[in-house]
Amino acid sequence: MNELDSLVASARELFAQAATPVELENAKAQFLGKAGKMTELMKGMAQLSVEEKKTRGAAINVTKQAIEAALTERRNALAEAQLQVQLQAERLDVTLPGRQRGQGGLHPVSLTLERIEGIFASMGFEVAEGPEIESDWFNFTALNTPEDHPARSMHDTFYVEGGTPQAPNLLRTHTSPMQVRHAVQHVKRYRNQLDAGQGMPEIRVIAPGRTYRVDSDATHSPMFHQCEGLWIGENVSFKDLKVVFTDFCKTFFESDDLVLRFRPSFFPFTEPSAEVDIQFQSGPLAGKWLEVAGSGQVHPNVVRNMGLDPERFIGFAFGMGPDRLTMLRYGVNDLRLFFDGDIRFLSQFNK
Ligand code: FA5
Ligand code: MG
Repeated sequence: MNELDSLVASARELFAQAATPVELENAKAQFLGKAGKMTELMKGMAQLSVEEKKTRGAAINVTKQAIEAALTERRNALAEAQLQVQLQAERLDVTLPGRQRGQGGLHPVSLTLERIEGIFASMGFEVAEGPEIESDWFNFTALNTPEDHPARSMHDTFYVEGGTPQAPNLLRTHTSPMQVRHAVQHVKRYRNQLDAGQGMPEIRVIAPGRTYRVDSDATHSPMFHQCEGLWIGENVSFKDLKVVFTDFCKTFFESDDLVLRFRPSFFPFTEPSAEVDIQFQSGPLAGKWLEVAGSGQVHPNVVRNMGLDPERFIGFAFGMGPDRLTMLRYGVNDLRLFFDGDIRFLSQFNK
């Protein structure tokens, strides 16, 4: 091995011993630095003849290139090794579940209301909303329940200060005031047509929302939800109500395996009146009758308060409890859980 070859060999060896980039740069300086071995070799050329300079110069160049190549090789190897160490340390397990920020989600009763709205919309019903602070007139009187009517005591009413029977003075005890509120708006739109003896498009609406009663136990909450339904036209029959409500229940519970029963009842604003019970034929609730709504043919006095002639227009209304439907759908046995605001309970409904 000549002098130049052994120089390359010793450079390789020293570079190989360098364990870090800093050590490698120090080793490099010994060969390629200003005071390094290559500079020394160049200086040694001064005494040579022109011919000798040519061959010697070429050989030194080859040596220099070999050392530079060795250096580059070692640099790459060290960088690669460092990358591997880093990859090991910052290793990402893509199979781990992500650490998510809480995303929030819809309340189970909101999910039910969305479902109710979707189903009735597909059957041609509008969705209307009304005030929770209501007047005595819309909540009771317009619904054929005057001041001293005994049926008023069926609702334990929260009153608010400063109202009058015509102005907001109570928290609505049911969504039924929306029957008259919505019908009056609808009739107003077609007043001219009606006065000219023509008809009007049927009123087909649901009105979901919060309602309030002085009431609290496992199946009653002082704030709860109702969803009103109203269908008024010239040829609407009890059979239509039955078909619509039965279809609704089957779609809502995703089951053809349930039976509905219209059980005679009393409401001042309907005559005849019926409570709607459902019976599941299978599943954990099989066999039990469960009340899901009140319903009936809208009372002529109420039709009159809508601005319509009860001799000509007839219709049906129902009022159901979405909280109750939510309990049935998910098998929850205490209504109050929905309104306690416990995130561990509520988050189960958004998966
Ligand atoms: C009514 O409120 C009538 N307005 C329903 C109606 C509408 C009848 C249209 C005829 C025509 P009722 O008081 O039964 O009826 O209440 C209806 C539903 O609301 C009940 O079946 C029940 O599901 C729900 N509900 C009533 N009170 C509470 C309460 N405190 N907590 C939770 N749900 C309740
Ligand atoms: Mg009832």
